[in-house]
Amino acid sequence: MPITYHEKERIFKIDTQRTSYIIGLADRPGYAGHVYYGARVQDAALAHLMRIHEPPYVPSQNAREKLSFMDSFPMELPAHGLGDFRGDALRVRTEGGHTALELKYVSHEITAKKEALPGLPATFGKDAQTLKILTEDALCGVQAELSYSIFADSDAVMRSLRIINCGREPVWIEKICSASFDMDDQGYELLTLHGGWAKERHISRSPVTFGFQGVSSYRGESSHQHQPFLALLGKGADQEHGEVYGLHLVYSGNFSASVYKGQYEQLRIMLGIGEEDFCWKLEPGEAFQAPEAVLVYSAEGLGRMSRTYHDLYRNHLIRSACQKKPRPVLINNWEATYFDFDEKKLYAIAKQASKAGIEMLVMDDGWFGARSSDNCALGDWYVNERKLKGGLKKLVDRVNALGMKFGIWFEPEMVSPDSDLYRAHPDWAIAIPGREAGLCRCQYVLDLSRKEIRDYVFESITRILDSANIEYVKWDMNRQLADLGSLGLPADRQGELSHRYMLAVYELQERLLKRYPKLLLENCSGGGARFDPGMLYYSPQIWCSDDTDAIERLMIQEGTALIYPLSAMGAHVSDCPNHTVGRVTPFETRGYVALAGTFGYELDITKIPAQDREMIPKQVAMYHRYHKLVAEGDYYRIASYAENHIYDCYMTVKKDRSEALLTYIQVMMQPNGHSRKICLKGLDPDKRYRVKRFCMDSGKEVSYGPKQAFYGDTLMKAGLLAETLWGDFRGVLLHITEA
Ligand code: GLA
Repeated sequence: MPITYHEKERIFKIDTQRTSYIIGLADRPGYAGHVYYGARVQDAALAHLMRIHEPPYVPSQNAREKLSFMDSFPMELPAHGLGDFRGDALRVRTEGGHTALELKYVSHEITAKKEALPGLPATFGKDAQTLKILTEDALCGVQAELSYSIFADSDAVMRSLRIINCGREPVWIEKICSASFDMDDQGYELLTLHGGWAKERHISRSPVTFGFQGVSSYRGESSHQHQPFLALLGKGADQEHGEVYGLHLVYSGNFSASVYKGQYEQLRIMLGIGEEDFCWKLEPGEAFQAPEAVLVYSAEGLGRMSRTYHDLYRNHLIRSACQKKPRPVLINNWEATYFDFDEKKLYAIAKQASKAGIEMLVMDDGWFGARSSDNCALGDWYVNERKLKGGLKKLVDRVNALGMKFGIWFEPEMVSPDSDLYRAHPDWAIAIPGREAGLCRCQYVLDLSRKEIRDYVFESITRILDSANIEYVKWDMNRQLADLGSLGLPADRQGELSHRYMLAVYELQERLLKRYPKLLLENCSGGGARFDPGMLYYSPQIWCSDDTDAIERLMIQEGTALIYPLSAMGAHVSDCPNHTVGRVTPFETRGYVALAGTFGYELDITKIPAQDREMIPKQVAMYHRYHKLVAEGDYYRIASYAENHIYDCYMTVKKDRSEALLTYIQVMMQPNGHSRKICLKGLDPDKRYRVKRFCMDSGKEVSYGPKQAFYGDTLMKAGLLAETLWGDFRGVLLHITEA
């Protein structure tokens, strides 16, 4: 049994194939303490690791130094106010204004299932086990139910928390983390993903120092700036070696991820909804469900952590029917035309694209209301027939007649001040009464916490989707939340708005997918500001970044692939000079880099240079040939351009290790050099492999290096030689197959 309770020792032990997570109940106070998390161990009787019998305060013997105890005991759920000064995972205010909570063990249950979290995205699947530990504060009647789930095929541990008000008066949750645990510092480093618009999810590593460190978002979205994720890295951890603890929140709104290093060189790691702007009123009898946190421990470096997240998300989080199917190669008109298009231009693009083997046309921003720039018309979700003469259905039918699917862009959560919707309902935007709300990209955010507004949004989308054969929706969200105020909430519930907003977005996407189960949904937020596990539950792919430059993408995609499967990364080949950075890279290289994601085009195919256009059918064939390996394979990072500033290299390996694909991008040509030795990863040491290069000109595979087959161990230890390529920004794709 992977989850066991050891009654004599009062220990809960959660075992996955390679890890153990151990919780203990401290005898007299009845607190749940954190005993151990790490590589799998055989013993359960490890309560001594909680140091409960170390002076100055031994609860079973004296009460003189309770605060010293509280301030060093490794709490599994540290609550506020009783002398633990290392950061709270839970703070609840009572009607009397008090905020201290003493949570003691009440009961527990172990079940052979994983339940859904009401209203929230979460992992799911069979062959699961869940431990629930119920704790209670006897004074105010607040109960906290800690939940831990595992799946038989994964090393991840899913944690979440539910607060139930069993008292007679309302209480207000002011802070709630989904996961927290304490451990001794062993010289860990903190890894986070940071960025901004057009430079999302760059990897940052720094030593863990005394005090608080961490990342958060208070933008109402998971954000470009930070990812709801942190990892602690043991000394010398790299792709293959060292300890790694990853924590990732399945949530798309405000979050906080932090680590606190205290006086005894103990660490407290916490992850949950961001506490600023959050205050949730709980009436007697009501419950509040916190989002799920996914914990992954790896004793084999970052690579093992990445692969554990990838498999978990592919098998237990992404629920779309499209997940296991090849995604259609699409062409999106955003960078091709921006707002300046009509049905003729779109059809011309589609016609040319269909000849090149592209399978779907996506009509981006600008098809509705009076939208001719980003200054107006959000909210007016009716087709602009001056642009699309003959209407949407006519265009879609014509595109379908070319053998192509049709997709459409929406930004359902927004309203422009210059729109019919805003003129009719100025009170539908999030704003503080009496204060002029700030604009961002000249738009306001709709108050989706109000049902009538959600219904308007839903009906607007479905009216369009029902009017033609639309098979894909790009759901965009182009601004952050500020001026938080809702006319739908009383004063003592205004602090609920940010979270209610997220629940509303989830509810809308849920309704959409129920109605159109086959719909391919892609989430997007000004590029990659909503690349988070919450969104992945609804959409199997998320737009990675508005930066489509192949070289910038190497860093963005490396950071993204650290935790997300490549099949989820929206990646397109665009035109040059690149619209974000002005860089010119070979069309061939742009294709190799986009192959590491969903693969598509974002350019005017009727206008690009002829030699680029001629390469498209070959790239489409390349995608069809290798996409399964990319989407379903095990990911191995070999070299990082972000670190070495010269070249990038990664592999995906088929699960049975019979086949692999290696992408090598030589960003900078170095003079007077020789070939570069590359040690492959993930192969079977005892299988023999042949290495071939994909030749873009012929669309065929040609031999690369010596023609003979080599054992996997030779390729992984002695390596192969990557030939020097002439010029900057060049790439090569190597297909490694069992001989
Ligand atoms: C965001 C998206 C882009 C595009 C524009 C349209 O920036 O990330 O891909 O859809 O909006 O306004």
